[in-house]
Amino acid sequence: MTYDDIRKLFLGYFEQHGHKIVPSASLIPDDPTLMFTVAGMVPWKDIFLGKVAPTSPRVADVQKCIRAGGKHNDLDEVGFDGSHHTFFEMLGNWSFGDYFKEEAIAMSWDLLTNVLKLDPNRIVVTTHITDDEATKIWKKVSGKDAIRLDKDNWWSAGDTGPCGPCTEMHYDMGADLDGGLPGSPDEGHRYVELWNDVFMQYNRDANGILTELPKQNVDTGAGLERWASILQGVRDNYDTDLFRHLMNAIADVVHVQKNDSNVASFKVIADHLRSVGFAIADGVIPSNTDRGYVIRRILRRAMRHGQMLGHRGPLLSALYPALVNEMGAAYPELAREQAHVVEIIKNEENAFSDMLQSGMKLLETELPKLENKILPGAVAFKLFDTYGFPLDLTQMILRERGLNVDVDGFEKCMTEQKERSRADTRGTKILWESRGELPETDDKSKYAPIDNMQSKVLAILRNGEFVETAESGDNVEVALDKTTFYGTQGGQVGDMGELRINGDTVVNVSEAARANNIVIHKGIVTKEIHVGDIVTPVINNNIRTQTARAHTATHLLQAALRKVLNTDVEQRGSRVAPDSVRFDFSFGRAMTDDEKTQVEKLVNDWIAADMPVKHEEMGIDEAKSRGAMALFGEKYGDVVRVITAGDVSCELCGGTHVYHTGEIIKARINKEKSVASGIRRITMSVGNLAE
Ligand code: ALA
Repeated sequence: MTYDDIRKLFLGYFEQHGHKIVPSASLIPDDPTLMFTVAGMVPWKDIFLGKVAPTSPRVADVQKCIRAGGKHNDLDEVGFDGSHHTFFEMLGNWSFGDYFKEEAIAMSWDLLTNVLKLDPNRIVVTTHITDDEATKIWKKVSGKDAIRLDKDNWWSAGDTGPCGPCTEMHYDMGADLDGGLPGSPDEGHRYVELWNDVFMQYNRDANGILTELPKQNVDTGAGLERWASILQGVRDNYDTDLFRHLMNAIADVVHVQKNDSNVASFKVIADHLRSVGFAIADGVIPSNTDRGYVIRRILRRAMRHGQMLGHRGPLLSALYPALVNEMGAAYPELAREQAHVVEIIKNEENAFSDMLQSGMKLLETELPKLENKILPGAVAFKLFDTYGFPLDLTQMILRERGLNVDVDGFEKCMTEQKERSRADTRGTKILWESRGELPETDDKSKYAPIDNMQSKVLAILRNGEFVETAESGDNVEVALDKTTFYGTQGGQVGDMGELRINGDTVVNVSEAARANNIVIHKGIVTKEIHVGDIVTPVINNNIRTQTARAHTATHLLQAALRKVLNTDVEQRGSRVAPDSVRFDFSFGRAMTDDEKTQVEKLVNDWIAADMPVKHEEMGIDEAKSRGAMALFGEKYGDVVRVITAGDVSCELCGGTHVYHTGEIIKARINKEKSVASGIRRITMSVGNLAE
C-alpha cells in the first residue's frame, strides 16, 4: 500500500463515518505560541477553545507537520534510526463536541484491525492513569487491558492551550527487536506508536491551571510514515516507497550509491528536503531569526551531509523536482511554488557553500589541538560568526567523532558580541551627535543622484574614535560635506555603494545611515583614506531601484488595504528594503485568505496598469487639500514631499520611489500576522524576488 493509497483509505474511511474531508493547513500556524504546525490539531485550537465555530462537527485530514526547533523537536534524532523525521504527515480525525471516547476508540480499532487487517495481537494500548472510562471502553471494544501511564498519556501542543488525557495504540514490530512495552524504562525499537487519540477536555493557562473547555472534543493523530512502514512490511520508515524514491534521486544528484556506512546522510538529506521544501513553499524565508533560522539550520545540515557524500554545489534545490514528483499530487502547492522555492534554496546554497568548505578547514585544524574532547566555545563562535555554522551544525559534526562543544563558552562569546554591537550602535550615534562642529550633510541630490559629485571627507569614525586616516580592512563611518546617498530614515533602508578616488574604490559602503542631519557612510576601507580627501560617492543603482520599487509598492499596499478592509487602516510602522517590505497597520483581527488575495490582486492590478508616479514638493496646506495621507503622530515641515501614484494613492513621504508603477514588476504577500494588540504586520516581496 503506497502513501497515496493510505491517504485515500484513511480519508475515505472517515468520510464514510460522516467526517468532512479538508486539505492540510499551512505549516506556518496563526499562533504565536508555536513555531510550526506540529500536529493536526494546531489549526483547530480556536475551535476547541470555543472562540470559532466549526464548519462541521467532524473533520478528517492529512496534515503537514514540522517538529524542529521548538518544544516538539526531532532534529537531532534524524538519521540515527528509522522512525524520526523533522517533517511528517499526520493522519487525523476530529470531533468538535460531537462524538467522544467511545466512538473514537471504536473507529480507531475498526480501521486498524478490520480495514487495514493488522493483527490485533500485535497491538498494545495505553491510557492515562486517571482515565478509567477509556480503559473500560478498550476492554469492551477489543478485550484488551490498557497499560496505564501518566505523562506519556497526556497531550498538549504547547505549554498553554487545549490539552487532555490520551490513549495510544502501539504496534509490536517483532520480538527480535530491543525494547520493552510502552512506558517501560527500556524504550527500544520493538513497539512503535501507531495512533494517538486525545480527549481534549481542558485548557491550560500560563500558570498551569486547567479549566474545562466548553465542549468535549476528540483529536487524533497517526504518523503516515509509520503506517506505511508497517503496511509495506519494512521496519524502517526510510525503506518505504516514498523515501526509496527520494533516496534514488539523491544518489543521482550526488553520484554515490547508498550503503550501510552512508545511509544516515541519505536519510538526513531526504528528511531535510521535505522540511525545507514544504516550509518554503508555505512562505518561510530562511533568515537569522525564528522559524526562518530553523529552516536555514536544517538546510545547512543537509548541505553538510551532502559534503560528507563528496558532493559540492546545489543539493536540495536540485532535489526539489523529485519531491514535487513524489508528493505534488497530494500537495499542489509544491508545484505551484516550484520556481520560487528553487530560487530561494539556490540562493541559500550559494551563500553557504564556500563558507562550509572554509569552516570545515578551520575545524580540521582545530580538532587535533583539543583537550578533553571538547571544542572551545571561542572556536565554535568563530565558526558561527565568520562561517555561518549554526551551533547545532558544529555539534552535529563533532558528534560524528565523539566530541563536544563548550556550549557555555560559546554563549559567553555570543553575549559579549551582542554587548559590543549594542555599545557600537548606541555609541556611534552619540559620538556623531556630540561632534557639534560638523555641518549637516547636503544631501539635496539624493532623489536624483549625481554621477560625478566631488565631496570632501569631513570625519572618519573607527572603533569608537575619530581618526585622521583609515586603512584597508578598517570598519569605518565616514561623513562628507555633500552626498548623493539616501541615508536610512522614515523606515527606508539607506543606499549601498562606494566612495571612490580617481575611479578607485576606497570605501565599500554597506549602508548610508543618519545621525540627526549627518549622513554617515558605513563600510569597509579598501584603500587608505584621510580626512580632507575629495571622494566621489557612487550609489549602487540596482539596490536603489529595488528599494524604490519596494517603497512605491508599500504605498499601493496601504491603499489596497484601505480599499479591501476599511478606511480606518493606518500605517503604524514600516521597513522598506531592497525588494522587500514590512508594513505594520492598525486592524483588529487576522485577515482572511480571501482578503489577502484581494489585496495582493489589487496591488498587482495597479502595477500592471503602469500608472505614473508623481514626486512633488509643495506647501503642507496644499498637500492637505489634496487629501495626502500623513503618518500618524509624525511632525512635518512647511514644505513637504508628496508622492502620488495614479489616482489610487497620495502620501506625504520623504523616500525614494519609481516613476511608473509598472517598474515594481510584481508584488507578493508572504505573511500577515499580529505584532501587538490591534496591529497587524504584512511582509511582502516585490520585483525579481516576488517573481
Ligand atoms: N495531537 C495528538 C498528537 O499529535 C494527536 O499526538
